[in-house]
Amino acid sequence: MRLDRFLADCGLGTRSEVKKMIKSGAVAVNGKTITKAEVHVDADSDTVTAFGTEVEYRKFVYLMLNKPQGYISATRDGRTPTVMELVPEEYLHFEPFPVGRLDIDTEGFLLITNDGDLAHRLLSPKKHIPKTYVARIQKPVTERDIKAFREGVVLDDGYKTLPAELKGFEDKNGFWAEIVIHEGKFHQVKRMFEAVSNKVLYLKRTKMNKLALEEELELGEVRELTDEELALLVPEK
Ligand code: URA
Repeated sequence: MRLDRFLADCGLGTRSEVKKMIKSGAVAVNGKTITKAEVHVDADSDTVTAFGTEVEYRKFVYLMLNKPQGYISATRDGRTPTVMELVPEEYLHFEPFPVGRLDIDTEGFLLITNDGDLAHRLLSPKKHIPKTYVARIQKPVTERDIKAFREGVVLDDGYKTLPAELKGFEDKNGFWAEIVIHEGKFHQVKRMFEAVSNKVLYLKRTKMNKLALEEELELGEVRELTDEELALLVPEK
Protein backbone atom coordinates (compact mmCIF):
# COMPACT_ATOMS: atom_id res chain seq x y z
CA MET A 1 0.00 0.00 0.00
CA ARG A 2 1.06 3.62 -0.38
CA LEU A 3 3.16 5.08 2.42
CA ASP A 4 0.67 7.91 3.08
CA ARG A 5 -2.21 5.42 3.46
CA PHE A 6 -0.09 3.29 5.79
CA LEU A 7 0.61 6.25 8.06
CA ALA A 8 -2.95 7.58 7.92
CA ASP A 9 -4.36 4.11 8.75
CA CYS A 10 -2.04 4.07 11.77
CA GLY A 11 -3.55 7.31 12.99
CA LEU A 12 -0.59 9.60 12.40
CA GLY A 13 -2.78 12.21 10.75
CA THR A 14 -5.07 12.83 7.83
CA ARG A 15 -3.88 11.88 4.36
CA SER A 16 -2.73 15.46 3.68
CA GLU A 17 -1.07 15.79 7.10
CA VAL A 18 0.95 12.61 6.62
CA LYS A 19 1.90 13.70 3.10
CA LYS A 20 3.45 16.82 4.60
CA MET A 21 5.16 14.71 7.25
CA ILE A 22 6.66 12.48 4.56
CA LYS A 23 7.78 15.49 2.50
CA SER A 24 9.50 16.99 5.53
CA GLY A 25 11.79 13.94 5.76
CA ALA A 26 10.39 12.62 9.05
CA VAL A 27 9.57 9.18 7.66
CA ALA A 28 11.88 6.30 6.85
CA VAL A 29 11.26 2.86 5.37
CA ASN A 30 13.75 0.16 6.30
CA GLY A 31 16.10 2.85 7.59
CA LYS A 32 16.03 4.99 4.44
CA THR A 33 14.34 8.41 4.49
CA ILE A 34 11.47 8.53 2.01
CA THR A 35 10.00 11.84 0.87
CA LYS A 36 7.48 10.53 -1.66
CA ALA A 37 4.00 9.68 -0.39
CA GLU A 38 3.27 7.25 -3.23
CA VAL A 39 6.12 4.88 -2.37
CA HIS A 40 4.77 1.37 -1.84
CA VAL A 41 5.26 -0.33 1.52
CA ASP A 42 4.51 -3.85 2.58
CA ALA A 43 2.82 -3.76 5.99
CA ASP A 44 4.07 -7.26 6.83
CA SER A 45 7.74 -6.98 5.92
CA ASP A 46 8.78 -3.29 5.81
CA THR A 47 9.82 -1.30 8.89
CA VAL A 48 8.39 2.20 8.86
CA THR A 49 9.52 4.90 11.29
CA ALA A 50 8.18 8.41 11.83
CA PHE A 51 10.41 10.84 13.74
CA GLY A 52 12.61 7.86 14.56
CA THR A 53 9.86 5.79 16.20
CA GLU A 54 8.64 2.58 14.63
CA VAL A 55 5.06 2.68 13.40
CA GLU A 56 3.33 -0.65 13.67
CA TYR A 57 0.67 -1.15 11.04
CA ARG A 58 -2.82 -2.06 12.06
CA LYS A 59 -6.02 -1.71 10.20
CA PHE A 60 -8.51 -3.01 12.72
CA VAL A 61 -9.29 -2.32 16.34
CA TYR A 62 -11.43 -4.56 18.57
CA LEU A 63 -12.76 -3.07 21.80
CA MET A 64 -14.78 -4.54 24.64
CA LEU A 65 -17.08 -2.03 26.34
CA ASN A 66 -18.97 -2.70 29.53
CA LYS A 67 -21.91 -0.55 28.51
CA PRO A 68 -23.60 1.41 31.26
CA GLN A 69 -27.25 2.43 31.20
CA GLY A 70 -28.09 5.78 29.67
CA TYR A 71 -26.08 5.37 26.45
CA ILE A 72 -27.41 4.36 23.07
CA SER A 73 -25.62 1.94 20.75
CA ALA A 74 -25.08 4.32 17.85
CA THR A 75 -22.25 6.39 16.48
CA ARG A 76 -24.16 9.64 16.47
CA ASP A 77 -27.31 11.05 18.04
CA GLY A 78 -28.69 14.50 18.57
CA ARG A 79 -29.16 14.56 22.34
CA THR A 80 -28.73 11.15 23.94
CA PRO A 81 -25.13 10.17 24.78
CA THR A 82 -23.84 7.41 22.53
CA VAL A 83 -21.47 4.59 23.46
CA MET A 84 -18.86 6.25 21.23
CA GLU A 85 -18.43 8.92 23.90
CA LEU A 86 -16.93 6.19 26.10
CA VAL A 87 -14.28 5.22 23.53
CA PRO A 88 -10.87 6.75 24.28
CA GLU A 89 -9.70 9.36 21.77
CA GLU A 90 -6.72 7.23 20.69
CA TYR A 91 -9.06 4.73 18.97
CA LEU A 92 -11.29 7.18 17.13
CA HIS A 93 -9.15 7.48 13.99
CA PHE A 94 -9.98 3.81 13.30
CA GLU A 95 -13.60 4.96 12.90
CA PRO A 96 -15.00 2.14 15.03
CA PHE A 97 -18.70 1.49 15.52
CA PRO A 98 -20.79 -0.63 17.91
CA VAL A 99 -21.68 -4.10 16.64
CA GLY A 100 -25.41 -4.54 17.12
CA ARG A 101 -27.62 -2.82 19.61
CA LEU A 102 -28.09 -2.95 23.34
CA ASP A 103 -31.07 -0.96 24.62
CA ILE A 104 -30.42 2.32 26.42
CA ASP A 105 -31.19 0.62 29.77
CA THR A 106 -29.18 -2.56 29.03
CA GLU A 107 -25.68 -3.01 30.42
CA GLY A 108 -22.81 -5.26 29.49
CA PHE A 109 -20.67 -6.50 26.66
CA LEU A 110 -20.71 -4.42 23.52
CA LEU A 111 -18.10 -4.97 20.82
CA ILE A 112 -16.84 -1.81 19.16
CA THR A 113 -14.72 -2.31 16.06
CA ASN A 114 -14.03 -1.05 12.55
CA ASP A 115 -13.96 -4.60 11.16
CA GLY A 116 -17.10 -4.54 9.05
CA ASP A 117 -16.67 -8.12 7.91
CA LEU A 118 -16.58 -9.44 11.49
CA ALA A 119 -19.55 -7.24 12.43
CA HIS A 120 -21.50 -8.66 9.52
CA ARG A 121 -20.66 -12.24 10.48
CA LEU A 122 -21.60 -11.70 14.12
CA LEU A 123 -24.91 -10.10 13.21
CA SER A 124 -25.86 -12.34 10.30
CA PRO A 125 -29.21 -14.03 11.02
CA LYS A 126 -27.85 -17.14 9.27
CA LYS A 127 -24.97 -17.63 11.71
CA HIS A 128 -27.05 -17.95 14.90
CA ILE A 129 -24.25 -16.57 17.07
CA PRO A 130 -25.09 -17.20 20.75
CA LYS A 131 -25.54 -14.17 22.98
CA THR A 132 -25.86 -14.64 26.72
CA TYR A 133 -27.77 -12.26 28.97
CA VAL A 134 -28.44 -12.11 32.69
CA ALA A 135 -31.77 -10.58 33.61
CA ARG A 136 -33.45 -9.67 36.86
CA ILE A 137 -37.08 -10.51 36.36
CA GLN A 138 -40.36 -9.93 38.13
CA LYS A 139 -41.29 -13.58 38.77
CA PRO A 140 -39.24 -16.76 39.09
CA VAL A 141 -38.45 -18.85 36.01
CA THR A 142 -40.69 -21.92 35.80
CA GLU A 143 -40.12 -25.31 34.17
CA ARG A 144 -42.82 -24.27 31.74
CA ASP A 145 -40.85 -21.14 30.75
CA ILE A 146 -37.72 -23.23 30.22
CA LYS A 147 -39.63 -25.57 27.92
CA ALA A 148 -41.31 -22.66 26.10
CA PHE A 149 -37.96 -20.93 25.50
CA ARG A 150 -36.41 -24.21 24.36
CA GLU A 151 -39.17 -24.60 21.79
CA GLY A 152 -39.23 -20.91 20.80
CA VAL A 153 -41.79 -18.40 22.01
CA VAL A 154 -44.15 -16.32 19.93
CA LEU A 155 -43.47 -12.59 20.34
CA ASP A 156 -46.05 -9.80 20.28
CA ASP A 157 -45.67 -9.40 16.49
CA GLY A 158 -46.29 -13.10 15.83
CA TYR A 159 -42.62 -13.99 15.25
CA LYS A 160 -41.58 -17.35 16.74
CA THR A 161 -38.08 -17.14 18.17
CA LEU A 162 -35.37 -19.73 17.65
CA PRO A 163 -34.84 -22.09 20.59
CA ALA A 164 -33.20 -20.33 23.56
CA GLU A 165 -31.63 -21.77 26.69
CA LEU A 166 -33.03 -20.50 29.97
CA LYS A 167 -31.97 -21.00 33.59
CA GLY A 168 -33.47 -19.41 36.68
CA PHE A 169 -31.98 -18.53 40.05
CA GLU A 170 -32.74 -16.38 43.06
CA ASP A 171 -30.79 -14.21 45.49
CA LYS A 172 -31.47 -11.50 48.06
CA ASN A 173 -32.05 -9.02 45.22
CA GLY A 174 -34.79 -11.05 43.59
CA PHE A 175 -35.42 -13.45 40.73
CA TRP A 176 -32.85 -13.87 37.98
CA ALA A 177 -32.48 -15.63 34.67
CA GLU A 178 -29.62 -16.50 32.38
CA ILE A 179 -30.71 -16.74 28.78
CA VAL A 180 -28.84 -17.63 25.61
CA ILE A 181 -30.40 -16.47 22.36
CA HIS A 182 -29.19 -17.13 18.83
CA GLU A 183 -30.59 -14.13 17.00
CA GLY A 184 -31.09 -10.44 17.71
CA LYS A 185 -34.62 -9.20 17.25
CA PHE A 186 -35.58 -5.78 18.58
CA HIS A 187 -35.92 -5.90 22.41
CA GLN A 188 -35.78 -9.66 22.06
CA VAL A 189 -35.05 -10.72 25.62
CA LYS A 190 -37.60 -8.33 27.12
CA ARG A 191 -40.23 -9.47 24.63
CA MET A 192 -39.49 -13.16 25.25
CA PHE A 193 -40.17 -12.71 28.96
CA GLU A 194 -43.33 -10.73 28.17
CA ALA A 195 -44.44 -13.69 26.03
CA VAL A 196 -44.42 -15.85 29.16
CA SER A 197 -46.14 -13.16 31.29
CA ASN A 198 -42.96 -12.10 33.05
CA LYS A 199 -41.03 -8.81 32.95
CA VAL A 200 -37.35 -7.88 32.67
CA LEU A 201 -36.37 -5.35 35.35
CA TYR A 202 -32.65 -5.25 34.61
CA LEU A 203 -30.65 -6.66 31.70
CA LYS A 204 -26.97 -7.24 31.09
CA ARG A 205 -25.20 -9.00 28.21
CA THR A 206 -22.47 -11.23 29.60
CA LYS A 207 -21.21 -13.08 26.54
CA MET A 208 -21.04 -12.94 22.75
CA ASN A 209 -20.27 -16.20 21.03
CA LYS A 210 -17.64 -17.80 23.30
CA LEU A 211 -16.23 -14.56 24.68
CA ALA A 212 -17.40 -13.46 28.12
CA LEU A 213 -17.43 -9.89 29.41
CA GLU A 214 -14.42 -9.40 31.67
CA GLU A 215 -15.79 -9.25 35.19
CA GLU A 216 -13.26 -6.65 36.36
CA LEU A 217 -14.16 -4.24 33.57
CA GLU A 218 -16.06 -1.39 35.22
CA LEU A 219 -19.23 0.01 33.73
CA GLY A 220 -18.24 2.52 31.04
CA GLU A 221 -14.74 1.06 30.67
CA VAL A 222 -13.29 0.09 27.30
CA ARG A 223 -10.32 -2.09 26.53
CA GLU A 224 -8.79 -3.84 23.54
CA LEU A 225 -9.36 -7.54 23.04
CA THR A 226 -6.37 -9.85 23.13
CA ASP A 227 -5.78 -12.16 20.16
CA GLU A 228 -7.01 -15.10 22.25
CA GLU A 229 -10.23 -13.24 23.09
CA LEU A 230 -10.76 -12.28 19.47
CA ALA A 231 -10.48 -15.96 18.51
CA LEU A 232 -13.29 -16.75 20.97
CA LEU A 233 -15.48 -14.12 19.37
CA VAL A 234 -14.95 -14.85 15.67
CA PRO A 235 -17.57 -17.23 14.29
CA GLU A 236 -16.43 -20.50 12.78
CA LYS A 237 -16.66 -20.53 8.99
N1 URA B 1 -32.78 -7.93 24.31
C1 URA B 1 -33.38 -6.84 24.82
O1 URA B 1 -34.56 -6.86 25.12
N2 URA B 1 -32.64 -5.74 25.00
C2 URA B 1 -31.34 -5.67 24.70
O2 URA B 1 -30.71 -4.63 24.91
C3 URA B 1 -30.72 -6.81 24.18
C4 URA B 1 -31.46 -7.92 23.98
